[in-house]
Amino acid sequence: MIRHFLRDDDLTPAEQSAVLDLAARMKADRFAHQPLAGPRSVAVLFDKQSLRTRFSFDVGIAELGGHPLVVDTQVTHFGRGETLADAGRVLSRYVAAIVLRTHGDDRIAEVAAHATVPVVNALTDAYHPCQLLADLLTVRERFGATAGRTLAYVGDAANNMAHSYLLAGATAGMHVRVAGPVGFQPGAEIVARAEKIAAGTGGSVRVLTDPVAAVRAADVVATDTWTSMGQESDGLDRLTPFLPYRVDDALLGHAAADVIVLHCLPAHRGEEITDEVLDGPHSAVFDQAENRLHAQKALLTFLLEASTP
Ligand code: CP
Ligand code: NVA
Repeated sequence: MIRHFLRDDDLTPAEQSAVLDLAARMKADRFAHQPLAGPRSVAVLFDKQSLRTRFSFDVGIAELGGHPLVVDTQVTHFGRGETLADAGRVLSRYVAAIVLRTHGDDRIAEVAAHATVPVVNALTDAYHPCQLLADLLTVRERFGATAGRTLAYVGDAANNMAHSYLLAGATAGMHVRVAGPVGFQPGAEIVARAEKIAAGTGGSVRVLTDPVAAVRAADVVATDTWTSMGQESDGLDRLTPFLPYRVDDALLGHAAADVIVLHCLPAHRGEEITDEVLDGPHSAVFDQAENRLHAQKALLTFLLEASTP
């Protein structure tokens, strides 16, 4: 069986916890783990822009003893008729795993359906599960554990980060609150799935429109851009409805005294988050960005070990 990581709930709670344990060990002894020695190669493909994902996978695969092949798909045949199914079949003959950042989730699902190696979601329109592993590792580092902690995500609650906070946070036993304006609420199917997961982990899920109610006494406050990649010209007002959700000192004042602030970056400083918060004492965003590296190394190691050809 081949294990893919297309959305956050592709890992069970026990598996997510094991990946985070391994990530912490890999962070503590960064060059000691070489499961890709050979080297085995990993394809890392981008249909969308990236800084953190591109570099953290490139560096991480090299640190695992492997050979990263990082490619923007405009230079491949993706856009001129080669099917994703054929690309998945062909790449599987060369590489140990395929990492893909793309648009619709149907695209990565098609690659995974035809690949014979693990496929990893490096961000799609609906999910950003690698980011969540980094976020949860950061929460563990700051609070010792994820279970029982309250995480409030405010802003565009219909985007990939909101969906991944719901699924991954519930899997981690967290109390997840997601708040966004009417019209920018998470998908009902994803909320229902998160509720089901939370019922088994001791976590909980709440979807709100009131940002103050969302962040009240929260241990973690998270936000993300109000305009995700590909939404630049969608005709929606992506400023005015979101202004009450900006993470500034006033909103953060409603959270727990030792709250940490997360943002996957890139930040639109002055829009969804202010400089004072991003650069302030509660911000954990640069630890969070670093943790992409460690979390993804652990994830790749787990998926390769768990997959049988
Ligand atoms: N957080 C994140 O995925 O950043 P990039 O878009 O720069 O990869
Ligand atoms: N929601 C953002 C995340 C960027 C890392 C986007 O999809 O553009």
